[in-house]
Amino acid sequence: MCGIVGILGREPVAGQLVDALKRLEYRGYDSAGVATLENGGTLTRRRAEGKLSALEGRLEREPLQGSVGIGHTRWATHGKPTENNAHPHATDKVAVVHNGIIENFRELREELIREGATFGSETDTEVVVHLVSRELKRGQSPVDAVAATLGQLRGAFALAFLFAGETDLMIGARRGSPLAIGYGEGRMYLGSDAIALAPFTDRVSYLDDGDWVVLTHDSVAVRDADGKAVERPVIKTAASAALIDKGNHKHFMAKEIHEQPEVVGHTLAHYIDMAEEKIDLPHALPFDFKNLKRVSLSACGTAYYAGLVGKYWFERFARLPVEIDVASEFRYRDVPLDPGNLAVFVSQSGETADTLASLRYAKEHQQHVLSVVNVPTSTIARESDVVMPTLAGPEIGVASTKAFTCQLAVLACLAIAAGRARGTLSREDERILVRALIETPRHMSEALAIEPQVEQLAHTLAKCKDALYLGRGTSFPIALEGALKLKEISYIHAEGYAAGELKHGPIALIDETVPVVVIAPYDQGFEKTKSNLQDMVELSRRAYRPAAVFEKTVSNMQEVAARGGQIILISDPKGVAEGATESLVTLTMPEMPLSVTPLVYAIPIQLIAYHTAAVMGTDVDQPRNLAKSVTVE
Ligand code: M6R
Repeated sequence: MCGIVGILGREPVAGQLVDALKRLEYRGYDSAGVATLENGGTLTRRRAEGKLSALEGRLEREPLQGSVGIGHTRWATHGKPTENNAHPHATDKVAVVHNGIIENFRELREELIREGATFGSETDTEVVVHLVSRELKRGQSPVDAVAATLGQLRGAFALAFLFAGETDLMIGARRGSPLAIGYGEGRMYLGSDAIALAPFTDRVSYLDDGDWVVLTHDSVAVRDADGKAVERPVIKTAASAALIDKGNHKHFMAKEIHEQPEVVGHTLAHYIDMAEEKIDLPHALPFDFKNLKRVSLSACGTAYYAGLVGKYWFERFARLPVEIDVASEFRYRDVPLDPGNLAVFVSQSGETADTLASLRYAKEHQQHVLSVVNVPTSTIARESDVVMPTLAGPEIGVASTKAFTCQLAVLACLAIAAGRARGTLSREDERILVRALIETPRHMSEALAIEPQVEQLAHTLAKCKDALYLGRGTSFPIALEGALKLKEISYIHAEGYAAGELKHGPIALIDETVPVVVIAPYDQGFEKTKSNLQDMVELSRRAYRPAAVFEKTVSNMQEVAARGGQIILISDPKGVAEGATESLVTLTMPEMPLSVTPLVYAIPIQLIAYHTAAVMGTDVDQPRNLAKSVTVE
């Protein structure tokens, strides 16, 4: 996660850019830079490795006077934190700052090099600069050059562009990563969030996913992903509340659901070498996966369900048996643990009493203790041998959303690392599985597009008393999580089941008043490849080797339909085509490798809970009887 800012000002802006970057430093701080238009239009950059103070020093020695500029504080994904890799990246025609990941940078870079472009960095960002320059050289206007470039980029990102000689122009674009517009008097601003813009203006609007904006000192023209002119509401932000700002969402939970493509991308970048497409854990582990006989995994609530998905991955990728239990049971069960094995604890807060007690039990029994936590200063983090942070940022809504998907991201990386270390995954398997993870933030952005459909559906769900969620394989924990989400914020009674368990009891609950949410990505054979995506899906199938359970879930669905149950099917285009006949509603997810479906299918189940609760008017962010962090038994 990086921070970006842009200012169309009337006086020198370098100092203001640095002030804004200071407020964005929480997003990354391994290098920083600014670019301004000097002497009426020459793009001039100052960049520095390290914290912002280094950039400030550089600007003191070599000041900039331009009144239009962009700035960036970096958290390295592609390429080391050096000055060369620091943003803005630029040619003599355009400068760009970027947050997020350009997935197809490799192909684009090769194409541009073949055409004669010279690259000065190892970053994915630099391809954007060269693509825009190429369009400009072909005679396109800056606006058309950006439009043509955006059409060629794949990934989840936010961008700000500054053009040589264009002192009354700045362009911003958002796809998956946030971008806000600040409105001043004859001045305009862009920033990764309202926090950055707080010193300049309290009038802010947020770009929707896919939007891009053309700014001058006095005008704002937003276009959506289809190029249609759109308006986004301008809201007043309280500067003091900026750190816990809800953006243009009604609730923190909604904001946090929408942040997922970005924070999952950020978390993955912490554990993945993007250029090599391999797992690169930030610290050496004090144990060798090869020597482990089993892993014990323990957590509470949503974190437990993340662990349950992790169990499927560890067993599949690393052939390593995982014993998993809710922490409130694990701690008292007197579990026999062979010394020298691994115990994993998952917790957003890092303070959950039962999880902490389980961790202490594991330590007493000479386990290597590894925790996946969102609060790095928490007790669980401090008492662990190894901490693998989730970089979800503060989660304010009591119902956990972005912490969950970030936990999944970390567990997936860890399971792949285990598979490599134990020799159960080849280097090629790793490359394929990692590639699938790198593309996940984009699929998450695409999944968010079903929101209007879920809003409609919520009016029906809000009238229900009970709901069931069904899934098999890694979709089973997602069913459990879906039911938990609905219960905790809408107060509708809901249960999640392994779809195969339905006929062993819960089927007695089915009648026409009970909606049944079926989570079933298509997992049967794939015909030989038609597209890169299908290549990817097929390849990852070979690396992942999942059992094919889609048809079995569809049979369970038919059993529900035969008893009048109202089915909500969540699947991909193939699954919807094959299984939709019996359903009330289908929610279509993008096609993606099966190994990453839990991260993406979490989004529709979160949206279902959120919109149902919103229709019912419950206190979504602070539901009754619950606490964000449960520090008592
Ligand atoms: O902070 P933790 O992740 O340890 O919290 C565990 C559970 O209390 C938590 O996930 C809870 O279930 C959430 N409210 C679910 O949305």
